[in-house]
Amino acid sequence: MIAIGNASSLGSARPRSPPVSGGGGGAGAQRGARCRAAATVSRRVLDTDAPVIVKTKAMMAGREGVLSLAQGIVFWPPPPAALARASELLASSPPSLHGYGPAEGLPELRAALREKLRAENGLEGYDVMVTAGANQAFVNLVLALCDAGDRAVLFRPWYFNHAMAFQMTGGADRLAFGPCCPATLKPDLDWLQRELEGRDPPKMVVLVNPCNPTGVALSKGDVERAAALTQRAGAWLVLDNTYEQFMFEGRRHHALGGPNIINLFSFSKAYGMMGYRVGYIAWPLAAEGLGAQLLKVQDTIPICPPTLSQHVALAALTGGGDWVRSNIAALAPNRAAIADALSPLAAAAEAEAAAGGRPAAGAVAGGEGAIYFWGRLPAGFEERDEEVVEWLIKQHGVCLIPGSACGAPGHVRAAFANLERDACAEAAARLKRGLRRLAAGGPAVLAGGGGGGGGGAGADAHAAR
Ligand SMILES: Cc1ncc(COP(=O)(O)O)c(C=O)c1O
Repeated sequence: MIAIGNASSLGSARPRSPPVSGGGGGAGAQRGARCRAAATVSRRVLDTDAPVIVKTKAMMAGREGVLSLAQGIVFWPPPPAALARASELLASSPPSLHGYGPAEGLPELRAALREKLRAENGLEGYDVMVTAGANQAFVNLVLALCDAGDRAVLFRPWYFNHAMAFQMTGGADRLAFGPCCPATLKPDLDWLQRELEGRDPPKMVVLVNPCNPTGVALSKGDVERAAALTQRAGAWLVLDNTYEQFMFEGRRHHALGGPNIINLFSFSKAYGMMGYRVGYIAWPLAAEGLGAQLLKVQDTIPICPPTLSQHVALAALTGGGDWVRSNIAALAPNRAAIADALSPLAAAAEAEAAAGGRPAAGAVAGGEGAIYFWGRLPAGFEERDEEVVEWLIKQHGVCLIPGSACGAPGHVRAAFANLERDACAEAAARLKRGLRRLAAGGPAVLAGGGGGGGGGAGADAHAAR
């Protein structure tokens, strides 16, 4: 069992990044936009990566017709029963709707979530704190579990806001970035074992399952192994299950219980409730006293989760199962279209491997779970993913997330739940044309806006204007 408030002071995983003033390529360019305030701002925030979603939105701004496969969102609204509940509450306007609610969340929602955790996730002996989304849940945990100097593990490529949460609460010093196996893109648990059995074991290990940004799903065995390793080392294991419902081709999602395991969940994606800001932390009662520590952070950041949103979440949870299942099932053509759009990257990787270059396995991954595919750009684009994203917007009217935002320059992430079927098919067609041109023309395409390999760019660029 893990002692609460028993801070260990372990060495740092990575040297503090130098101050960055914007510009330049690669991962460093994400960090620390220039700030000219009269007084100085914190080194922690200066050293925090710039928000990539804000950045891609700025790149698309003013360009009509760009189709975004960038931000991880779904195209459907909340279940009808949940919206009806919101209307009913707004019409009757009970005073309790407008005041601060209980810090941990509405009792009726927490009770329903405890039951859901037991019945659907197999989590016994857990309590729940409702948060303003899984992102806030994660910040709560970083603040409650880690002191400056405590090491924590994220796997590369990582979910950008996880890295940012560590950076802005004490810089990058305590982060160790674990590799993923190149062929499967699953977290390398042999590496994790060495870290946890080493001289300077991490205090917190984070796994996103299924994964943002790769779209790769962990097996039960993977999760169990990570649980056993962390428990033996006295480390926390944080499982981010934001995409638990998004599992494809018969795969099952596996949350896991244990005295050192904290599970995070979100209403944003499956229930189409991104803007309502509801997520939750399931924490083990065996970690005695953890709830009181989490409450300090909760009381200071949101005070309480949004009340109306929690009522909507409760109605979604109790009456929205079919809505979620049918919308996720309807993603099949989107998923197939984006997989096909990335085929030029797979072909380029095969050609590169045949010529003695990097192995092809794992060059295009994902689609197992969550709402993402992950692709490696052809040789010559290793540090140029941001330029590629900008070029795709301008030339082909389609937007992706650059891998450098996730610690993996030379890669891109494509989301397949943002757009309804027809729009997604059009975005996929544009993406495929753009990637074909990149693969055929190489980096010169970026400079000239031309290059070999096929038409369509003009039409795409026109559509995007
Ligand atoms: C892995 C992961 N965790 C958390 C979040 C944030 O979810 P929420 O909207 O509940 O804050 C996201 C959103 O993209 C995510 O991909």
